[in-house]
Amino acid sequence: MATQTSPNKGVSSVIRQKAHSFEEEQKARIISVCSGKMKYADVLNFIENEIEQSKKMSNFRYTIKCWKSDGAYQLNKAITEVFGVARAKQDSQPSGGETPIETLDIILADGTRTKVPYGTIDMSDLGEGSSISIAYDSDKHRLEVKGKCQYKFQSLMDDIIARTKELLATESIYKNQILEITDINEPKIMNLDGIDKQLMVLSQKTEFELQPLRSRIFYPEKCIQKGIPLKYGCLLEGKYGTGKTLYAFKLAKDAVAHNWAFIYLKNPEILAEVLRMCQVIDRSGYGVVVFVEDIDQVTRGNRDAKLQDILNTLDGGDTKDLNVITLFTTNHIELIEPTFLRGKRIGSVITMDCLDAETAEKFIKASFTEQEGYILDGDFTDVYKYIEGAGIAPAFMAEIVESAKSKLIFMDDNKVTPFHIKASVESYQRQVALAQKKDVTETPPEKLVKALREVLGTSELNKLEPILQIIEEHWDVERDDYKD
Ligand SMILES: Nc1ncnc2c1ncn2[C@@H]1O[C@H](COP(=O)(O)OP(=O)(O)OP(=O)(O)O)[C@@H](O)[C@H]1O
Ligand SMILES: [Mg+2]
Repeated sequence: MATQTSPNKGVSSVIRQKAHSFEEEQKARIISVCSGKMKYADVLNFIENEIEQSKKMSNFRYTIKCWKSDGAYQLNKAITEVFGVARAKQDSQPSGGETPIETLDIILADGTRTKVPYGTIDMSDLGEGSSISIAYDSDKHRLEVKGKCQYKFQSLMDDIIARTKELLATESIYKNQILEITDINEPKIMNLDGIDKQLMVLSQKTEFELQPLRSRIFYPEKCIQKGIPLKYGCLLEGKYGTGKTLYAFKLAKDAVAHNWAFIYLKNPEILAEVLRMCQVIDRSGYGVVVFVEDIDQVTRGNRDAKLQDILNTLDGGDTKDLNVITLFTTNHIELIEPTFLRGKRIGSVITMDCLDAETAEKFIKASFTEQEGYILDGDFTDVYKYIEGAGIAPAFMAEIVESAKSKLIFMDDNKVTPFHIKASVESYQRQVALAQKKDVTETPPEKLVKALREVLGTSELNKLEPILQIIEEHWDVERDDYKD
């Protein structure tokens, strides 16, 4: 059982209690020896031995699988609960100066920074020369606690470690937080304040496709009751700026509010390792939602080992007793290895689309609200259809709206007409067209020759014979037409 002492009770009562129970046992042993038929000298010897034994130093070594900051923080808390305060050792140096106390900087969920002792901590309360050394093994992801104390206090160390584990499991510094992991040993707490207020327009089809995911996050109990496994995977696919990341971040807030942990991974390569680390994450919730961007980076081409590792971790073994919801994104569904999509690991592929007429209407109405003083003046039906035809991703619509709004400021007007919106959309389209002009001016033979050079890895045109002759005949062009 872990010790649950309030810090105020402080040092002495716990240590005294530990020492006391040791002394009680010792007393019982001495009494039993005295009441036997031992000689006086032997009894004396026995007692001296006992006293010596109680002062003997004993070494201890523990390892705790955890994130670095969390482990150091909770260990410090456990020590503080027992001793009142954990002190880092200050060795006097020959020069007379003192070595600085080694500490670890920790950022807590509310943004405050705190320092906890790290390295070697003096523990003279546990007998002269006693100390604890704290280090972190970055490969095995575990805190290493070793040191020495008087034999009679050894069980106190067991208690401190047990309490540290208990704190990690129930009061982790990452509890109910949205985490971003780039360094596998050091998650960062993400601040997504204000994301709820961001406009997000989804088509009915997408809303519908998202339901299995949302059911698990919002109503885990009901899912369990109905025998629906919470473990689930889902792939959000779609062009740039269709709201994949925005949606996932909004969902992160809901997940945490409904007692799920949430982890954001920009780099899919560490997914398998992160999933294994999820075992140490706060276990009081329903499980963990892992959001992984650009999964095609791992699943394309010949990256077998990494992909295999991810598939194995998703499929079983390491995450068997943990509910993991994996949320992947990609801009390139065509590059995803089919084995990745097979089986139960991807429950659904959800397409995030450009705006159709219906979502365009939602977008415009939500962007120009009466509360902000705007009036939508006229029949916008054709504009909504125009937006659908233009294939505009929501991210660009957001820019178009911004541009329309700034024009209205200049005109000191709050009336938004279909003309305004259409003009802004058209001006956006012109800009896109200009940006692509270079590609557009490239003729098919030019494109073909460029591609051939790339594939064959040559800059010399004559190496492309006789294909060049075929091109020239087919398009009626001369060699000069596609020289650089
Ligand atoms: N469905 C949407 N409704 C409203 N605004 C949106 C929507 N999707 C995107 N936006 C706007 O575009 C911005 C960028 O979107 P986001 O980063 O989510 O796109 P993405 O699909 O993740 O793009 P990428 O494929 O490049 O990662 C958002 O911050 C938001 O302002
Ligand atoms: Mg994105």
